[in-house]
Amino acid sequence: MQNILKDVAKMIIGSRYCIAFTGAGISAESGIPTFRGAGGLWEKYKPEELATPEAFTRNPKLVWEWYKWRLELVFKAKPNPAHKVLARLEELGVIKCVITQNVDGLHREAGSKCVVELHGNIRRARCIKCGYTITWDKPPEEIPPRCPQCRSLLRPDVVWFGEPLPENEWRKAVEHASKADVIIVIGTSGVVYPAAMIPYIVKERGGVVIEVNVQDTAITNIADYVLRGKAGKIMVKLYELIKREVTS
Ligand code: OAD
Repeated sequence: MQNILKDVAKMIIGSRYCIAFTGAGISAESGIPTFRGAGGLWEKYKPEELATPEAFTRNPKLVWEWYKWRLELVFKAKPNPAHKVLARLEELGVIKCVITQNVDGLHREAGSKCVVELHGNIRRARCIKCGYTITWDKPPEEIPPRCPQCRSLLRPDVVWFGEPLPENEWRKAVEHASKADVIIVIGTSGVVYPAAMIPYIVKERGGVVIEVNVQDTAITNIADYVLRGKAGKIMVKLYELIKREVTS
């Protein structure tokens, strides 16, 4: 493992445009449950009852109760070493941007400046009628919450199944991926599209794919380097190797 880590560190240092692509696994060590796998949210809850526009129309209170519970977890969570390493690597100029499927906002909280949020942000809500947006600093008390401007229902400002990704964020993600010669894919199962296209865009243009995950995923077969283990531990090791080289 140490040898692969050294090769990966060299690859990242020598890159022209390195980006990271992250999923729920990077926030697992912050106490936020993943979606798939043991203990994942989709083991206990049905996405079609909680994370679709139809579910919201049918029962906004139920959907909001679930989001309120998730917001409570997010507000309690702190960025972990993996989030922090990505922010430090951006500061060092080693990585250019983080493209994330996560809605928890932990990359920004860790200090990352260039963050593309493909699936929205759970800390934000928007009015289904007038589009007014609000950013919570704690979970809302009134469930379901209502728009302070027009009293229509607010909805979590996240992407639900069956909905398109926010156009601007998707365009930025594709732009970064098209420029990237190295992508570090951290803690994603790589099964939700179109987000999961991002590593493929890099690969198809001749870029190098590095996977950091506790297990095999849909991305593993296109990965040039596979780093097995928890994101926190691996990213810290990688950072130590990179920092030694970059600052020496
Ligand atoms: P998943 O829950 O599908 O996958 C999480 C991945 O993280 C798995 O591959 C785990 O093996 C890995 N993992 C877990 N703990 C880890 C750790 N400590 N270190 C490294 N890896 C770890 O989450 P996503 O791929 O993000 O979409 O899911 C993609 C999308 O599906 C989500 O954005 C969400 C969900 O439905 C929407 O809500 C639209």
